[in-house]
Amino acid sequence: MKKWSRVFWMLVTFMLVVSVGLFAAAKKKPGEKILVGFSQIGSESEWRNANTMSVINTFNEDPDIILIFSDAQQKQENQIKALRSFIAKKVDVILFTAIVETGYRPVLLEAKRAGIPVIMIDRDVCEADRDLRLTIMGSDFVEEGRKSARWLGDYLKKQGIDDGKKTINIVELQGTVGSAPAIDRAKGFREIMKDHPNWKITRSQTGNFTSSEGKQVMEAFLKADKNIQVLFAHNDQMALGAIQAIKEAGLKPGKDIIIVSIDAVKGAFEAMVAGELNCSVECNPLLGPQALQAVKDLMSGKKLPPRIWTIEGVFDQGNAAEALPTRQY
Ligand code: AHR
Repeated sequence: MKKWSRVFWMLVTFMLVVSVGLFAAAKKKPGEKILVGFSQIGSESEWRNANTMSVINTFNEDPDIILIFSDAQQKQENQIKALRSFIAKKVDVILFTAIVETGYRPVLLEAKRAGIPVIMIDRDVCEADRDLRLTIMGSDFVEEGRKSARWLGDYLKKQGIDDGKKTINIVELQGTVGSAPAIDRAKGFREIMKDHPNWKITRSQTGNFTSSEGKQVMEAFLKADKNIQVLFAHNDQMALGAIQAIKEAGLKPGKDIIIVSIDAVKGAFEAMVAGELNCSVECNPLLGPQALQAVKDLMSGKKLPPRIWTIEGVFDQGNAAEALPTRQY
């Protein structure tokens, strides 16, 4: 065989192998729609609503996708039912935000047996069940807890409130018991507390990530003991409720009690501009575009990384007014 014809046939074979490989990896035929099921936990906060709308709008605008949305209204049994109905409908991919970390193993096993990949959005399942989901995209909740405590340390020092000796009494409004953000934010905050032996968490209770419960619990904290220097709230919604309780107790939020929370929603920016909230650590809910990219990559045969992070900042009264007009949620 002549050298040129050998090169020609080698090239043809190479092209064939590549195209067969690509065809085998792609999970959909050209023109076929991708069926996606999204199990959301509810609508407990401004953050959650922004997250839901980001996913729904992004997926609905894509002509290649059909999205089935299910709102669990904060009930795990509703979520399990929704996941089972997605499996019965033979969806191509499941997007899943877990209300709490545990209790989903059997249904995740069913999805795995049915060959349906599960992509976690925002809230993950516990470590022992992570073998049953493909990847998780969202925030580093432990780091958010650390960022809150680091910001607090700098602020108290700059204001001359913390001399490192006098006790700083902190109350904590925790998120939903057993949820990934509540577990991780508490953990990250306490990690940094180790550098501040005079900081003391005097009271800690769940406010379920809602404004009404945040208010109720803060009222109870204040009734029991007014000697509080700091409130650490696991989300803005609870902090906003607590601000009302602090005002009703005749104290000045942001001055008499320093308040640090997480999410950086618009309401928090307004409270910072009004001087009633001191800091909000950003947790980005706009995960729709990243989720869509992940679904498309997966369907075209690409391997997804085990963790897809979002990039986030920290805002306080020093930069809130400047950032507020550009906030999207
Ligand atoms: O899982 C993310 C948390 O859930 C957000 O911080 C909170 O606002 C939401 O309800």
